[in-house]
Amino acid sequence: MDHAATSWPKPDQVVEAMRSTMLMYGANPGRGSHSMAVQASRVIFQTRRNLAKLFGIRNPNDIAFTMNTTMALNMAIQGVLSSGDHVIATSIEHNSVRRPLEYLRRTRGIEVTYIETDTAGNLDMAKFRESFQLHTKLVICSHSSNLLGTILPIEEIGQFTRTQGAFLLVDAAQSAGILPIDVERMGIDLLAFPGHKGLLGPQGTGGLYIASHVDLEPLMRGGTGSRSEDMEQPLVRPDRYEAGTPNTVGIAGLNEGVKLILNETVEKIHTKEWLLTRLLMEGLETLEGIQLLGPPKNQPRTGIVSFIIEGIDASQLAFRLDREYGIAVRSGMHCTPLAHASAGTLASGAVRASVGYTTTEEDVYAVITAVRQIIEDFAR
Ligand code: ALA
Repeated sequence: MDHAATSWPKPDQVVEAMRSTMLMYGANPGRGSHSMAVQASRVIFQTRRNLAKLFGIRNPNDIAFTMNTTMALNMAIQGVLSSGDHVIATSIEHNSVRRPLEYLRRTRGIEVTYIETDTAGNLDMAKFRESFQLHTKLVICSHSSNLLGTILPIEEIGQFTRTQGAFLLVDAAQSAGILPIDVERMGIDLLAFPGHKGLLGPQGTGGLYIASHVDLEPLMRGGTGSRSEDMEQPLVRPDRYEAGTPNTVGIAGLNEGVKLILNETVEKIHTKEWLLTRLLMEGLETLEGIQLLGPPKNQPRTGIVSFIIEGIDASQLAFRLDREYGIAVRSGMHCTPLAHASAGTLASGAVRASVGYTTTEEDVYAVITAVRQIIEDFAR
């Protein structure tokens, strides 16, 4: 029940693809022209192409592979912003947005406006529209809050951002492979996504989509296997943004996760996860002293259910769920103190249970039963 942190277990085909990469052909892609290197390059390109299909991206080479969403967000934020730029972000952003922004505020003199959401993580669109300034360069918005599960209206945000001549960076950490994403329709210029959550690939994978009209400065420079005689980083994509040997093994695994999602469709996956999420909310809300965070249960959200229980410390509850029931949940601040401040749980933290692709109804009932028993135990 910690799929929001990383999905687990991974599908067999993901594991098998990684195994055969290591045993059969895992040479260094783009460095050398021997058959094994060519095969490694081919798998990486196929993955790029499958991701492009999933996200409605015209040119697969506009996707750069990264280690994770954090690296993708840093590439986007540090590559786009310079002194005097204004940025709009929301109060449900992760520290992977907030920390790079605060760093640039201090070192490059950028200005940041965080729009406060309501306690459920919903954004007031009037407030959003009013926060634009003449020098607003970038809007950063989480597609879904990693604390509250709230789904933000990215298409509406994207359309307005376009009219203002700013770029939209979407943090898809909780939505890639879980909610439909179409970068063209939604007006997304930069999309940071993890490979290891909803896309079912291994940890150490992720990516950044960079629209062709965005001239992003690379975060890192180095060997690309191309134009080696040049002192400067090549301009050609994706090499411009992919210095160093890539995670071929991980990307081969990610390819299988993305293929599985394309076959099954994101719509079906979201519907199944939403039903499980609602079941979890309905079971938990009947328990004594519990307060569920996030939108009301008739408002669709991603598979995240965070809660607090009067008189029971969040980390103690998570500890007992793990040790006594074998249930893995996350507790504390979830790297998003801003969202906790909006939700009113900055002092207490919260327990977060999150469903994913492999979660079953039995898993959900097991969580409800375990939390009920712990509450009863505390009441004795
Ligand atoms: N950002 C991930 C989470 O919410 C790791 O748990």
